[in-house]
Amino acid sequence: MAFLPDFIKLGGEGGIIDKVMHGLTQPLFGSKDKDDNCINLQDTRGVGIRIEKLNKFFDEKHVLKDIDLEIMAGETFSIIGPSGTGKSVLLKHIVKLEEPDSGEIFIDNHPIFDQSGAEAPNYRYSMVFQSSALFNSLTVGENVGLWLREKRICKELTIRHIISDKLKLVGLEGQEGLKTAELSGGMKKRVAIARSLAMNPDLILYDEPTAELDPINTDELANTILGLKERTKNTTVIVTHDLNFALYISDRIAMISGGRIVEVGTPAEIKASENPIVKGFIYTTTKGIK
Ligand SMILES: Nc1ncnc2c1ncn2[C@@H]1O[C@H](COP(=O)(O)OP(=O)(O)OP(=O)(O)O)[C@@H](O)[C@H]1O
Ligand SMILES: [Mg+2]
Repeated sequence: MAFLPDFIKLGGEGGIIDKVMHGLTQPLFGSKDKDDNCINLQDTRGVGIRIEKLNKFFDEKHVLKDIDLEIMAGETFSIIGPSGTGKSVLLKHIVKLEEPDSGEIFIDNHPIFDQSGAEAPNYRYSMVFQSSALFNSLTVGENVGLWLREKRICKELTIRHIISDKLKLVGLEGQEGLKTAELSGGMKKRVAIARSLAMNPDLILYDEPTAELDPINTDELANTILGLKERTKNTTVIVTHDLNFALYISDRIAMISGGRIVEVGTPAEIKASENPIVKGFIYTTTKGIK
């Protein structure tokens, strides 16, 4: 942590390490510190996700109801649906920030909640949270390089190249020195995305990536995600209520309503769906505009 300012609290509750787990998670499985320096960041792969009969209650409230979903390795998969229907809660299960009351999630056919079986696969994943979860006391560049420095993944010069490269991808070229606290919501979101991309994740999860972006930035983000698709093999899962964004970037889309998956299909299939819930969602989000 030699590159972080002294005043940043490192360990303990509320310390930076604690928060990083929520802004940029470490690999789920089998990562031993001794191996971390051996990670080849160029080598990405897609991971397959299979969700089976997942149920989640918060007290009496049944938030996720018998969710069955398969996301293929390398897919760009969006989960759409109205507010409060369980999209974020579902995403948090995939990174084990929530535990189900019943059901299981398999990643590359390995159960992530029942770990009594054989050793699970190792992969890099990162999540861009609905709130960007940046450190205001760090600069933009320090935020983006946080994981690489904390894990001592590579040499400082390489880290600086990666930071510069990822900032360029999100339209913030040369902005390393900006103070995070002074950024707009949309810029913060873009820094959070750059930070997640810094590790070249095998699995990247976005929770409402376009929520605070203007139409131009939304368009740029869509093209960034599509561009990444051409250069890496990662699996991308996006939760959004931005229907047009989902239709533009996704290989497939699932619609969730009232805690249940009501439709899964390609963008063309979703647009042509006869399911009244899907039709209603498309109508209200586009205000009937054809
Ligand atoms: N930690 C929690 N404790 C209790 N209830 C929760 C918790 N997290 C989520 N919920 C409830 O679960 C339901 C689904 O929440 P979730 O955040 O997944 O909605 P969402 O579909 O992501 O909505 P939005 O589009 O507004 O972000 C909501 O009713 C919410 O109040
Ligand atoms: Mg949400």
